[in-house]
Amino acid sequence: MYTPAHRAAVIELAKRCLLPQDAAEAEAIVDILTRATFGAVSEVDGKLQGVALASAGHKDEAVAHLDLLLVDPAVRRQGIARGLLADVERQAKKRGLGTIKVAGNAPDYAWPGVDVHYTAAICALTAAGYTHERTAWNMTAQLPVKPRPARPAPEGVVIRRVAEADLELLLPMVHEQWGPAWTVEVERAFSKGGVHAAFRGEHPIAFAAWGGCRPSWFGPMGTLPAASGTGLGSVLLRLCLDDQAALGLTSAQIGWVGPVPFYANAADAIIDRVFFLFTKQL
Ligand SMILES: CC(C)(COP(=O)(O)OP(=O)(O)OC[C@H]1O[C@@H](n2cnc3c(N)ncnc32)[C@H](O)[C@@H]1OP(=O)(O)O)[C@@H](O)C(=O)NCCC(=O)NCCS
Repeated sequence: MYTPAHRAAVIELAKRCLLPQDAAEAEAIVDILTRATFGAVSEVDGKLQGVALASAGHKDEAVAHLDLLLVDPAVRRQGIARGLLADVERQAKKRGLGTIKVAGNAPDYAWPGVDVHYTAAICALTAAGYTHERTAWNMTAQLPVKPRPARPAPEGVVIRRVAEADLELLLPMVHEQWGPAWTVEVERAFSKGGVHAAFRGEHPIAFAAWGGCRPSWFGPMGTLPAASGTGLGSVLLRLCLDDQAALGLTSAQIGWVGPVPFYANAADAIIDRVFFLFTKQL
């Protein structure tokens, strides 16, 4: 069974197993996926060979989410993932969870689903009886974003980096419009990445955030319906991408999109990573 004592070994295993852009953020990924986790490990002589991490759904408490599945490249195709999946499914059932999904358990997620480049994982999940239910995608923006003339902000609207004192009005606005998962993501972005917002007087009317779950990932962002179509979203997106470029990042992932033409226009972003979301009845 997974325990927090496995954290360092899971990070090392993730670095060996994941695609380069994910391996580079292995520590952030493991930390976000072990906040409320249960899971299974495979160990030989105290050495971690494989891990499967899962959690109960934040949105639907009757659903389990498979958050991470890794097997050391040296011992693949020996049935280790099959065993880990069976173990984690048993644990989920014991907890009264009737379905298991391979889909981001927002706000504690590192991917929307399984990136299609992890083809072995797609094969292993299919072999274990999981069904491809939906498809999601990220967009990639190359950094720094090419400068372009910004539309002037609407009269009476000020755009600026969110300060601690702004959270008192921003977080309830995000909660009311977009729900609890986004509220947590914005809070985390404030402490680990950055948040920019447009204010009319004291009141936030649009915001954009980055770095809440992973440093290279942008999002979430939202504009109140009354302020949409005024160009605020593009300005806020670019402020966040400028922050990410200032970290030395050469690209940003716009996670789990959303309005493709908006990001294509505002930041020359392209659809890049594609994720399959799976489900299985337990
Ligand atoms: C996906 C992964 C965990 C599979 O681990 P594994 O221990 O090698 O898998 P298993 O040996 O249990 O395979 C079970 C079944 O899955 C299928 N499968 C697994 N790997 C496969 C591959 N490379 N090609 C085709 N089918 C594959 C097969 O049906 C296999 O059964 P079989 O060997 O009897 O034919 C491993 O490849 C891995 O760590 N990949 C990188 C990380 C990753 O993709 N994680 C998911 C994203 S978080």
